Amino acid sequence: MTKLKWGMIGGGEGSQIGPAHRLGALADGHFEFAAGALDHRAEEGRAYAQRLGIAADRAYGDWTEMLAGEKNRADRVDLVTVATPNATHFEITKAFLEAGFNVLCEKPMTMTVEEGEEIVRVAAATGKICAVNYCYSAYPMVRQARAMVRAGELGKIRLVVTSFSHGHHGDGANADNPRVRWRYDPAMAGVSGQFADCGIHALHMASFICDDTVEKLSADFASTISSRVLEDDAMVNFRMAGGTVGRLWTSSVAIGRQHGFDIQVFGETGGLRWASEQPNQLIYTPLNGRTQIIEKGEAGLHADAQRLSRVSIAHPEGFPLAVANIYCDLADSIRGELRDGLPRARDGLCSMAAVHAAVASAALDGAWTDARPPMFR
Ligand code: NAI
Repeated sequence: MTKLKWGMIGGGEGSQIGPAHRLGALADGHFEFAAGALDHRAEEGRAYAQRLGIAADRAYGDWTEMLAGEKNRADRVDLVTVATPNATHFEITKAFLEAGFNVLCEKPMTMTVEEGEEIVRVAAATGKICAVNYCYSAYPMVRQARAMVRAGELGKIRLVVTSFSHGHHGDGANADNPRVRWRYDPAMAGVSGQFADCGIHALHMASFICDDTVEKLSADFASTISSRVLEDDAMVNFRMAGGTVGRLWTSSVAIGRQHGFDIQVFGETGGLRWASEQPNQLIYTPLNGRTQIIEKGEAGLHADAQRLSRVSIAHPEGFPLAVANIYCDLADSIRGELRDGLPRARDGLCSMAAVHAAVASAALDGAWTDARPPMFR
């Protein structure tokens, strides 16, 4: 099969998420790395792209140059990944969609709900794929969890409880470090700190596994390090359209927790538990039955989980391969087999609506607030 051509914006040398995209996009041979504008410093970006094997004429100094350079090429890229800081996502994603490129945008997709709605409209109008990198949803055992819920193996879902709480910003003495401080500064981060950074992964995961949407929420935000304007800890209660009760805790000051992302789903006839630090196991307890460990790669998994299990049972598959699963779903979707597990612009928009609803709710001492994007009400 002919390889698809892939380009990336951001994700330059030393960036946090760049390596996971490169490992993910190239893992299965679906894509070749053909173009990039990798750094906010033009020359560093050009030089790094060439060190990674990109031809000099496709190692761009910035994204506008890349758009102009790729637009009219017969062999232009089939997919553009946007892995720049948050405030740039909207402008870059919109411009590439409008020029007829498929896009994988990092989360959060936009800064405002209006921008999110605009991306949904542009993606629909152009017919191009706009995916959002909720990569945790692509772990095989998360796909298994969703398939079990869809197949009714847990009965009606009563309750979902999730947390994404780490302790990496818990050092008060380091709070003024510029690499930490911007995340809690509205001028750089937008309206929300920790909830927009990590909480939306957990909220997306709840919607993804329960196959349901968040209707309303009530939020309590705290800046436990007092110099922070935006929250470093949040507790969010929510309700889903199908009646499921949701509880979400996200924190960056939970010292001792490392990655700290987990989810439990409780239905009328069983419960499930998954944690990102043990991603190959899904813990399942049927009503009145014994607790079981379902392993990635074992016989009898649902098809989506089986498809995305690469190496044999008990060999760990980690974060870059979850990102690779997003790229597999993208490659299939670009080639015409649309994968419904792929997080899309609609998911990015729902996250933005939830962020803004949570900010509004927290300002009103937790008043229940509509979390649906206006275009889906
Ligand atoms: P970072 O600060 O480590 O790296 C950002 C990179 O983008 C740098 O190489 C920088 O030079 C480059 N850059 C900045 N502005 C640019 C521009 N206008 N054009 C081209 N390149 C530009 O940031 P990090 O942590 O890698 O985050 C990037 C994005 O990825 C953020 O939106 C973040 O929320 C998201 N992210 C997502 C994760 C996930 O699990 N899906 C995990 C970590 C980050």
